[in-house]
Amino acid sequence: MVQIPDEFVEEVRRRNDIVDVVSDYVQLRRSGRSFVGLCPFHNERTPSFSVSPERQLYHCFGCGAGGTVIRFVMDVEGLSFGETVAHLAERAGLALPEALRVQQVESPRRQSHDQMLTAHELATKLYSYILMNTAVGVQALTYLETRGVSRQTIHEFRLGFAPVDGTTMVRFLSRRGYGESFLVQSGIAVDVGGRVLDRFRDRIIIPIADAQGRVISFAGRTLKADVKPKYLNSPETAVFHKGHILFNFHQARRHIRKSHRATLFEGYMDVMSAWQAGVKDAVASMGTAFSTEHAMLLKRDGARVVVAYDGDEAGARAARRAIEIANEVNLAVAVVSFPDGQDPDDYVKSHGEQALRRRLSNELLSEVQFLLELERREANLQTTVGRTDFLRRALEIIGRRATPVEQETRLQDLATELHVSLEALKSELRSVSRHEASRVRKSERAFLPMDQSWKGLPPAAEVAGERLLLAMLTDDRSFQYLCHQGLDELATAEQTALLALIYNFRAEHPMASAESFLDMLEDPLLVGLAVRVLSAEIPASWEIPALDDYMRAIQLHRLEAIHARMLRDSILAQTDGRLEEVSTLRETIAKLQQEIAQLKTSSGKGKAGIGAKEAGLK
Ligand code: UTP
Ligand code: MN
Repeated sequence: MVQIPDEFVEEVRRRNDIVDVVSDYVQLRRSGRSFVGLCPFHNERTPSFSVSPERQLYHCFGCGAGGTVIRFVMDVEGLSFGETVAHLAERAGLALPEALRVQQVESPRRQSHDQMLTAHELATKLYSYILMNTAVGVQALTYLETRGVSRQTIHEFRLGFAPVDGTTMVRFLSRRGYGESFLVQSGIAVDVGGRVLDRFRDRIIIPIADAQGRVISFAGRTLKADVKPKYLNSPETAVFHKGHILFNFHQARRHIRKSHRATLFEGYMDVMSAWQAGVKDAVASMGTAFSTEHAMLLKRDGARVVVAYDGDEAGARAARRAIEIANEVNLAVAVVSFPDGQDPDDYVKSHGEQALRRRLSNELLSEVQFLLELERREANLQTTVGRTDFLRRALEIIGRRATPVEQETRLQDLATELHVSLEALKSELRSVSRHEASRVRKSERAFLPMDQSWKGLPPAAEVAGERLLLAMLTDDRSFQYLCHQGLDELATAEQTALLALIYNFRAEHPMASAESFLDMLEDPLLVGLAVRVLSAEIPASWEIPALDDYMRAIQLHRLEAIHARMLRDSILAQTDGRLEEVSTLRETIAKLQQEIAQLKTSSGKGKAGIGAKEAGLK
């Protein structure tokens, strides 16, 4: 990646007024000190999108989007950071710095990237021309027609046809100056014992594009039932990494952003026929498994994912894996299943477009429902042993994955289905959960899910954490002081994550502004927090005693949390009759109570009070 000097980025930001730039995309009207409008990142009727000319920041109270002018253009245009800086520099009439220009033009890697993109673009055009306008393409066109692919869909997906002769593309691109080894490198051609031939022969061509819509690879489908493989794919190249690419993401993206939902299919044809049926948030992970990178891509656009895989065994297995991946990155997930082993494309053919749309919106299964359904399919409910076994697995799924509200509903369903009392199920679930408890508690310590860490949080500590973050971001002296105090934990998991990122950022970019920090943030939750922090009133000067008070509030919150947990533990130990443990716990609890009391009396005294460190607290 090209390293852009911090000063240049700051200059670009200064020269592009955020109200000005945003106004190109959103109709803004003044409201007090800021401007408001309809958020371009989610669907809304009443404006919750606000732009502050003073702070040069935008923030949506609806979907949490926010940041500087650079972030705005990146997200609204789907550009990379570098592309956005170049675009905004141009908009402000700034010349790109010499270093950047030279690097851009002369880096051989960059040049070869660009060439690969151009070659793919040219190839796409030729394949499409052959399909639509030549005798060679007629059979393929007929095939697509029989499969119900409309002209408009062919056009929108830029489908094409690769003729059988095996040299058309190599000759075409060689004439335009592309060397044979380059064509092999880019995956368009293959070296067959010293002869360079077209990779795709006698296949319908499906171009695969990146998020900006640039074609970076192809899939070729054979027309014949007996030819293997059914789909031939481009290999991984410098511009194509299939773990990062979702088929049709570039077209689906704006719909995904609006509806906060993406529908994930297994196959190219499923995506195309769903798209044609009006399902515009359709994407696929192209034969390879759905990856965490794919999941992050969707999460970044604020989406939930609906997994709509084939209705066969393989589809169910793949859906189960996709659920795990989604869970890993905290992406909300639901599943739609299809009857009789059909894939979504078959389903449209047999039930119609409206039926598909209805199924995808009205027949969503929660992950718990879906996993229970799979267990039910495998279980033998005719026998007592089978039923008991099923029940155990079901309770495990419910105990581990369902929210309390969903637990209630699922247990009720199970009770009705298996003719057992709800009370019995509830008590069974409790014993399953007890079994799981130590495992769960361990993972809780390792990573508190964001939404849980917000629950029941004393606002004092949360506010204190935000003030400390603001001080660190906007005042150099405060940063030095807090750094020196060894501040490494704030009131929530999010705040602490942001704090760690600030330390990293300052180490790498000592001169850069808080705005540069904002632009660097990836996680939408952290962006939202940082924007909220930076939108607050900034004091003319930060006083050390005030900073100490904030740190104390956080320390207090931390001790109180530990205290509450120990109380819980000691009650559990008591009911289990672990008496030795009870007495050790009681001692620690008493000590904690003392420390908490001390901390409380010393707060509000500023520097005169006892600092957390001096009180011997850790
Ligand atoms: P499917 O076999 O389910 O194909 O493979 P499909 O999408 O239903 O295709 P049609 O309807 O028969 O034309 C699902 C996906 O797996 C990948 C492709 O991405 C395909 O869309 N795949 C499958 C391959 O990459 N190569 C193959 O040979 C088969
Ligand atoms: Mn199919």
